[in-house]
Amino acid sequence: MTRTTGTYRTTVIGGERIRAFVPRPLPPKRPVLRIEGKLARCHAEAVTAIGRLEVAGTMVPSPDWFLYGFVRKEAVVSSQIEGTQATLEDVIVYEAAQQSERPADVEEVCNYVDALAFARAELARAHGLPLCVRLLCAIHRRLMKGVRRSGKRPGEIRTSQNWLGGTRPGNAHYVPPPHETVPDLLAALETWIHSDDPLPPLVKAALAHVQFETIHPFLDGNGRVGRLLVTLLVEHWNLLSSPLLYLSLSFKRQRQEYYRQLDTVRMGGDWEGWVSFFLECVCESADDGVSTARRLFSLVGADRRRLSDLKSVTVSAIRLFELLPQHPMVTLSKAMELVGASKPTAGKAINALTKAGILAEITGKKRDRIYAYRAYLDVLAEDTRTVPGQAAHGFGGAYSMSGR
Ligand SMILES: Nc1ncnc2c1ncn2[C@@H]1O[C@H](COP(=O)(O)OP(=O)(O)OP(=O)(O)O)[C@@H](O)[C@H]1O
Ligand SMILES: [Mg+2]
Repeated sequence: MTRTTGTYRTTVIGGERIRAFVPRPLPPKRPVLRIEGKLARCHAEAVTAIGRLEVAGTMVPSPDWFLYGFVRKEAVVSSQIEGTQATLEDVIVYEAAQQSERPADVEEVCNYVDALAFARAELARAHGLPLCVRLLCAIHRRLMKGVRRSGKRPGEIRTSQNWLGGTRPGNAHYVPPPHETVPDLLAALETWIHSDDPLPPLVKAALAHVQFETIHPFLDGNGRVGRLLVTLLVEHWNLLSSPLLYLSLSFKRQRQEYYRQLDTVRMGGDWEGWVSFFLECVCESADDGVSTARRLFSLVGADRRRLSDLKSVTVSAIRLFELLPQHPMVTLSKAMELVGASKPTAGKAINALTKAGILAEITGKKRDRIYAYRAYLDVLAEDTRTVPGQAAHGFGGAYSMSGR
């Protein structure tokens, strides 16, 4: 499908003529985007896949049960698309050890987790921010907090020209709209998100993501904010009752195709191609989510049975075990806090869980020991370890908090 999605504006930067792209507001027009034929079938499949994920989410006593791991996995993978090297293991070890200094890569992932939690809390709060440009800026501020990106104007819409690919706007792969146009373009996107456009919500989330990436309103972090936007829209439009759908793994698996599709919308107006790609990613991500949820659920069930068969099991051990999905790595002091017990009682609980083969000590140290629910973490971490240039490592190996 060919349609014009925007216009080029010529400006001069450093004596060079630049063609910056200014997208038209959503929705796609001339011709309008119709969800029919193959696209309608893809959409129906994606909706069904999300339905299965919804059911999987209700297997457990509380949505937080899966959220801890799923959110961290998404944060790791979404940050890896950009080249962050932190693994899920690094992040969870860091959180469990509560060390004061965090490596920059781990910080980025923790920022992503914070940003998502913040946004969800705002949207749920009676007088919190709605899904709007201000919220996206507040998300960006949290995402960019810290050392490495401090020059990137956290929380602020850019006031200069940016570009993608190449060394300067003049030889760039893509030059997003001139900065003066960005506030209006974002305002139009916000208005459209809240309009009564009859396109299905999943399709609207797909369109919003591309429009956001095309505007590229920040100096950095646009990919991550744009992917968070999808997560928030899916929850906002009640497609899922808890945010269990995370697309970054699918985008990462097909990164070149993801980028190509973004280009094709801009250059050829092929919104249909993008929507179809996006819906395939939704199906894949939802199926991944269901399979992970099932495996985690059955692992915990089997371990629970094993634990209750153990002679040395205590009430505190059972209580600690039930909290492990939200705290898959614990220290002795964390265990004391979680079960509200004294040091000896929490120590006994950890021992019982270790004896049952559920927890294992991972530092090899005498002090500041960390106990991990390895089998659980291994299920979660699948597919998150293949970062180019980095050796994959599992939960059985030694951990290093520094040196990255
Ligand atoms: N050709 C393109 N046209 C429009 N957007 C693109 C194109 N290629 C990549 N993008 C988007 O831009 C993002 C990169 O922009 P930026 O570096 O600001 O975001 P980020 O969050 O720091 O990185 P990211 O992928 O790279 O995590 C990509 O993730 C993708 O979403
Ligand atoms: Mg970047």
